Amino acid sequence: MNTTKIGWIGLGNMGIPMSQSLIKAGFPVIVYNRTKAKEDHLKASGASVALTPAALIQQADVVILMVTNDKAIDDIFRGNNGLLAAGASGKVIINMSTVSPAISKEMAAACAEQGNQYLDAPVSGSVKQAQDAQLVIMAGGDENTFEKVKPILEKIGRMALLVGNTGAGNTAKLVINTLLGIQAQGLTEAIVFAQRSSISTTDLVALINNSALGSPFIKIKGEALVNNNFNAMFSLSNIAKDLRLAKDIGLSTPLAEVAYQTFQDAEPALGDEDIIAVYKQISI
Ligand SMILES: NC(=O)c1ccc[n+]([C@@H]2O[C@H](COP(=O)([O-])OP(=O)(O)OC[C@H]3O[C@@H](n4cnc5c(N)ncnc54)[C@H](OP(=O)(O)O)[C@@H]3O)[C@@H](O)[C@H]2O)c1
Repeated sequence: MNTTKIGWIGLGNMGIPMSQSLIKAGFPVIVYNRTKAKEDHLKASGASVALTPAALIQQADVVILMVTNDKAIDDIFRGNNGLLAAGASGKVIINMSTVSPAISKEMAAACAEQGNQYLDAPVSGSVKQAQDAQLVIMAGGDENTFEKVKPILEKIGRMALLVGNTGAGNTAKLVINTLLGIQAQGLTEAIVFAQRSSISTTDLVALINNSALGSPFIKIKGEALVNNNFNAMFSLSNIAKDLRLAKDIGLSTPLAEVAYQTFQDAEPALGDEDIIAVYKQISI
């Protein structure tokens, strides 16, 4: 039994399986989600529930956030009954959301003023890796704080690496998601080219998966394309957001520029579908 009390904020596609991994590892977990109905999954798994972020931080030693974007982070920290309103001290706050390095620097400073520590620690991997506790975690912040919470992160992921100061984890994540955007577009372009040349998607995906180009990403998304399954595991609007954040911090290389534009163009119609719904944009 682990005695560190974990407060978990954000029960979306990723937050549910990630917080469940901590319950399975024996941590006492308190959850908060803006839409309260989603807390039911976690109540059933043994978590207790806090009414607000302020109430949650008062009961927790370590607070973990897994929410959409910079605005969500701002609301959770600065909102009425937000984390900062509690005036708590001596806590570690780990932000695992994919957000900008700038908001991490802002929130780290606000945490320090109240005597709390902040780490940015976004993840690579999707719902399947979250369910299997096999995420790859890249962190930014103070080394002692990172070492203190590393055993918790290792219950969610197979690797947790400190890559630099506050915001460095966010930057590493935006670099990786730039490659993800390029790969998603590349896969769908290959499939569209094959279809237009009378090669079936099933055959092409089987060939790629058995070649040196095969990867867990192509295995999962290739199967989704074969089955026309575009239900969001990682929403297209999230990759469009990440490429915008990457551009804000200086992204300007040829393939990335094209992927940036493709996902911005696809977002209004396809934002709620999976990243691989970019296929619908490419195959028009
Ligand atoms: N899905 C993936 O494969 C994946 C992989 C790696 C990283 N990520 C990143 O992980 C983060 C979460 O992704 P996800 O797929 O779990 O997203 P999701 O399913 O859309 O869930 C988003 C969560 O954020 C909460 N939220 C959004 N805006 C909020 C606000 N203003 N105030 C309070 N809570 C707010 C939502 O609350 P409600 O329930 O009330 O809407 C929900 O709990 C994102 O930054 C994403 O880019 C995702």
